[in-house]
Amino acid sequence: MIHPPEPFRIKTIEPIKLIDRDKRKTALNNAGYNVFNIRSEDIFIDLMTDSGTSAMSHNQWSAIMKGDEAYAGARSFYRLAETMEQIFGFKYFVPTHQGRAAENILSSLLVREGQYIPSNMHFDTTDANIRAQGGLPINLVIKEAFEPTNHHPFKGNIDIEALRSFINNVGVENIPFGMITITNNAGGGQPVSLENLKLVSATYHEYKIPFFIDACRYAENAYFIKLREAGSETKSVHEISKEVFALADGATMSAKKDGMVNIGGFLAMNDEELFLKVKNMLILREGFPTYGGLAGRDLDAIAVGLWEGLDEDYLDYRLKQTAYLSSKLVALGIPVIAPPGGHAVYVDAGTLFPHIPQNEFPGQALSVALYLEGGIRAIEIGSVMFAHLDEKTGEVIYPELEMVRLAIPRRVYTQSHLDYVVDVFSKIKSKLETIRGFKITYEPELLRHFSAQFELL
Ligand SMILES: Cc1ncc(COP(=O)(O)O)c(C=O)c1O
Repeated sequence: MIHPPEPFRIKTIEPIKLIDRDKRKTALNNAGYNVFNIRSEDIFIDLMTDSGTSAMSHNQWSAIMKGDEAYAGARSFYRLAETMEQIFGFKYFVPTHQGRAAENILSSLLVREGQYIPSNMHFDTTDANIRAQGGLPINLVIKEAFEPTNHHPFKGNIDIEALRSFINNVGVENIPFGMITITNNAGGGQPVSLENLKLVSATYHEYKIPFFIDACRYAENAYFIKLREAGSETKSVHEISKEVFALADGATMSAKKDGMVNIGGFLAMNDEELFLKVKNMLILREGFPTYGGLAGRDLDAIAVGLWEGLDEDYLDYRLKQTAYLSSKLVALGIPVIAPPGGHAVYVDAGTLFPHIPQNEFPGQALSVALYLEGGIRAIEIGSVMFAHLDEKTGEVIYPELEMVRLAIPRRVYTQSHLDYVVDVFSKIKSKLETIRGFKITYEPELLRHFSAQFELL
């Protein structure tokens, strides 16, 4: 597979440097082997996340100069509101400083102790915000999502039968709202089909359960629908997106992904009563409803970025760049989740390191090896992030897959950067059996992967 030519040229640059191996070793020690604790200047290629790491366009930077910093009623807000109306079409929205703020407001207003929130798979912040209210996030993705070599085109789909029987079992009164994440970040960046979205919407609505979409990567999801789903080939990504959001009662979004900005998000909804409560909560936690914790200039950058995220030349390049990295790793014999997701390649670290058991964190071992061997930062999406205690039995529940996510920031890295990543994997491959697992020496109660400390075993 060839790397697609970038549909942009580079106008400004940010130097990066590969520090030597001894310094990388010291950096890891000082970080307690948690790559979140390493300084950015000590990272060569940063694939930790595609969130907030995009390069903005000249049009976004010009829009920033137009930012209206009025506390209330800023022009920037109304420019964003116009974009929101044209793309998402919900009756109401509030800006938030990022996705998790939207999740926090939604969960704290609607989730009560012991209630359930079904989804395909909740991402870590959504999971934690629901748990923080005493709620239980429930993942009902199709079983193919857990088969790393299965090339199912829409591995982010919800298992509709499982959803229906779940609702019947726990009772509608215990489900304040239902969700779906597009694309499914926790499950390999895999898309959800339009057909599945229609069925999910119909199911929730049959039971009168409000339906919220976690829309972080909705544009990549819509492009997958265009490429893979019969009946959508001739529609524009914008049209598909509108069709998707018309199925829902609201959405949370971190604009740091397909909004192509470094900060920002929103909570959107159709229910006026909920909107009034959201506005009050927003004033308490984030800011006045026409800025929601952001500067006016941030709102302008989002208003422009949301359109750029829907550009089909860009999306074509974006998905091909991810597929390029995936194909090179496959050719090297590195097990990756198939097919490649939109924003990231997910390496199956459990299969790569059969000698490291789940309680010694194979994904963590790979994330550390990538930094040590090549100054690459990537994030573990496995037991460090998702293993948890079953409150009833006291047993540790491990996730199905031990993955490491190589997330590709938007419009940032070129083919030679990705080829370098492949070379580092080749080095790691030559010493697989020497790589060891870890034990956790410190962990906070929620979202432990951000600040846990480790010891090499
Ligand atoms: C699917 C999904 N939902 C929610 C979030 C949270 O967004 P933020 O980091 O802006 O709070 C993320 C961030 O990575 C995500 O990938």
